[in-house]
Amino acid sequence: MTTFSKKIINWQKRDGRNDLPWQTKNPYHVWISEIMLQQTQVKTVIPYFHKFIKNFPNIDSLAKAKPEKVLALWSGLGYYSRARNIHKTAIILQKEFNNILPNYYEDLIKLPGIGISTAGAILSLAFEKPGIILDGNVKRVLLRYSGDQSPINNIKTQKNLLKFAENLLPEKNFRSYSQGIMDLGSLLCKPKNPTCCECPIKRNCLAKELNFQNQIPFKVPSKPKKERDINWFFIFSKDKVLLRRNEKKGIWQNLWLFPEKNMFSKSNLNLLEKKEVLPLLTHNLSHQKLTISTMKYSIEQRDRLKIDRSSFAWVKKSDSGKMGLPKPVKEIINNYL
Ligand code: ADE
Repeated sequence: MTTFSKKIINWQKRDGRNDLPWQTKNPYHVWISEIMLQQTQVKTVIPYFHKFIKNFPNIDSLAKAKPEKVLALWSGLGYYSRARNIHKTAIILQKEFNNILPNYYEDLIKLPGIGISTAGAILSLAFEKPGIILDGNVKRVLLRYSGDQSPINNIKTQKNLLKFAENLLPEKNFRSYSQGIMDLGSLLCKPKNPTCCECPIKRNCLAKELNFQNQIPFKVPSKPKKERDINWFFIFSKDKVLLRRNEKKGIWQNLWLFPEKNMFSKSNLNLLEKKEVLPLLTHNLSHQKLTISTMKYSIEQRDRLKIDRSSFAWVKKSDSGKMGLPKPVKEIINNYL
């Protein structure tokens, strides 16, 4: 066993995180949490994880769920393809794997939403088998440890890291090792000003030796995000607001949004009474920056508005929690209805 892995394992057992709600050894919990933890921080994931498991306590209940309910429980977490993939995978597991998450890499990697790193996390954390995790925290630890200044967001670097990580794997204690290297990245080997004095692998860390901690990982600036303007109509009538299901492929497919001006005829528009311009919102996605302007309108007799009932709905604030809503829609309803 490498000294690297021995030190990580010992440190994890004493100083790592051992009270996270998904550390139950139930493979279903590990899988759901690992999908939620892709691109999302632990503290954000915790309440979503509890609610999700309460509603869907096992693979079978998730497979039987309506897709709308899965999306609703993902509301506000972002990257909604994760929720769609979780549901697809649950159905595959029900049909082909007897409601059991497989414990072989070759099976896991074929499932929707499970990539190399998530498969590695499931193998090690759920099944105590060798598995390589390469999320952002782990990449930072490995690049610093080896003093590697190659750009982190580069395919060749990823390939090299995978090989390097494979060589460092221990012979046992795979769960503590995987958790430990992630914990080290998030608790000590932080992006800025890492706490090297407490680090179990400081003696062999090249970045520390060269005092290069803040230069590694080296990032090549990514392309600026595409900017997109959105203009929403927040139309309320007494205690209800008008929402529409977004069928377009893309960022918020099948989620409920506010309607836009071009969705109404002139006669419909004439029924609306302008109230106020709501404050501008910005919302960052992985590849786009959205600027959202929202105009607030009221309508006295909402039944006079001609809308297609299959894609529009009048919704009370208290019922909106059961629907799939992206974060900005949730925020506007909570603040202005
Ligand atoms: N990030 C990804 N997986 C994680 C886990 N199991 N614990 C903490 N952070 C994580």
